Amino acid sequence: MAKITKLDDIVSLCKRRGFIFQSSEIYGGLASCYDYGPLGVELKRNVRKAWWKSVVQTRDDVVGLDCSILMHPLVWKASGHADKFADLIAECKKCNTRSRIDHLKEKSNTADDEHTEHISIDAAQAHAHDLTNKICPACGAVGNFTEPMPFRLMFETQMGANVDDSMKMFLRPETAQGIFVNFRNVLDTARVKIPFGIAQIGKSFRNEVTTKAFIFRTREFEQAELEFFCEPGTDEKWYEHWKEKRFNWYLALGIKKENLQFRQHDPDELAHYAKACVDIEYKFPFGSGDWQELEGIANRTDYDLRQHQRGIRTLNDWFENNNDLSKIQLKAEDPDYHKGPLSYFDQENKKRYIPYVIEPSAGIDRSTLAFLVDAYDEEQVRGETRNLLRFHPQLAPIKTAVFPLVKKEGMPDTAKKICNELKKYFNCFYDQKGAIGRRYRRQDEAGTPFCVTIDGQTKEDNTVTLRDRDSMEQIRLSTDKLSGYLRKKLEM
Ligand code: GLY
Repeated sequence: MAKITKLDDIVSLCKRRGFIFQSSEIYGGLASCYDYGPLGVELKRNVRKAWWKSVVQTRDDVVGLDCSILMHPLVWKASGHADKFADLIAECKKCNTRSRIDHLKEKSNTADDEHTEHISIDAAQAHAHDLTNKICPACGAVGNFTEPMPFRLMFETQMGANVDDSMKMFLRPETAQGIFVNFRNVLDTARVKIPFGIAQIGKSFRNEVTTKAFIFRTREFEQAELEFFCEPGTDEKWYEHWKEKRFNWYLALGIKKENLQFRQHDPDELAHYAKACVDIEYKFPFGSGDWQELEGIANRTDYDLRQHQRGIRTLNDWFENNNDLSKIQLKAEDPDYHKGPLSYFDQENKKRYIPYVIEPSAGIDRSTLAFLVDAYDEEQVRGETRNLLRFHPQLAPIKTAVFPLVKKEGMPDTAKKICNELKKYFNCFYDQKGAIGRRYRRQDEAGTPFCVTIDGQTKEDNTVTLRDRDSMEQIRLSTDKLSGYLRKKLEM
């Protein structure tokens, strides 16, 4: 079995089979933006569905939420993103290319050191700013940079048509804040008790300085985030719980163990809100094999809820300063903050506190890419190369394809009838075009776990051929048993 390790092969398969296209392709494409085609949209939906099933549906201590992308600008002041969510960049004086300084390589050391996602400006300032030996990735000039400067990662937009009352807004850079600002609403309506979590899947936006490798790092992306609220002092236990749960989720959906690892963050790369953070990394086929973050699991402590209590206290200043965020300083924290509006009252133990938060934050696009890469395989079969995607059945875009062996003797009608029956339960694809071997190969490349073929024998004894994608083994099965058999195998 030869495993292809070049990203180009995945990109080409994605285009050829309609998984993923470059955005606005007929206009020459838009950098770092991608569209999911007919197979890709099903795959991505299945990744979301599997996450939701594992994190919300099968637990009794997590509820869901779906918040708007545009939020009150003070949210981003309180969360720290307005002031701290920036990369330190420097401009090459020779070619004017701007680069993140933490991504610049040393002249004498070309090892890839791109592990960091965004680090807060505070953390970045702790890094030495000696750029004398650093290479410009665009033109190769050494040590010819401007002084480092912060570059804000949030996209800005405007709300409202009138000049007087229009407001500068931000597209959310994380879904998490929608959860924090709804903490009270959920507490008051969902009959939840700590420890419990609130989960959300949705789009986020970051004006990345450097994008990377296909859908791995894009400026518009989808997050699946859980904010798990717990009593201070129990946070480390829950951090361990979620580390294990999330790691096992990838394994259960077929990612090979040797391609998955944890990486603990160093104190100087922690985001501004985190006390501890670990990444689940996947060995992506960039370059010669590159460990990159799929998901971060952070201990956010009580930082966000406390900050939003300060945000609410700042509302009057906001109105007095005509909604101008640049003129606002967050009000100091109330000394009795632990009794504030975002505190929690533990009825049983009669105590009030601001909960701590453990946050597993996964990238849906990144996971989708990892599932694609890990499922990709090619093997030699009777002198021909067979390309296939060995997707876990839960993730496969099409679950079963149905073929009439030939276009006569009523076979197409029977096949369509069977296909329509199966469509009640899962995605099923009808294909009568081309030689049967080619039809099997097309489905192998789409990652379809099973193919059903209606042939001459079907009319005689009501059986069909069922072919398994991975082993290529074929069995005969009665049509009455087909749906039940497939649903069991596909876990549908
Ligand atoms: N909420 C964590 C992150 O967006 O990275």
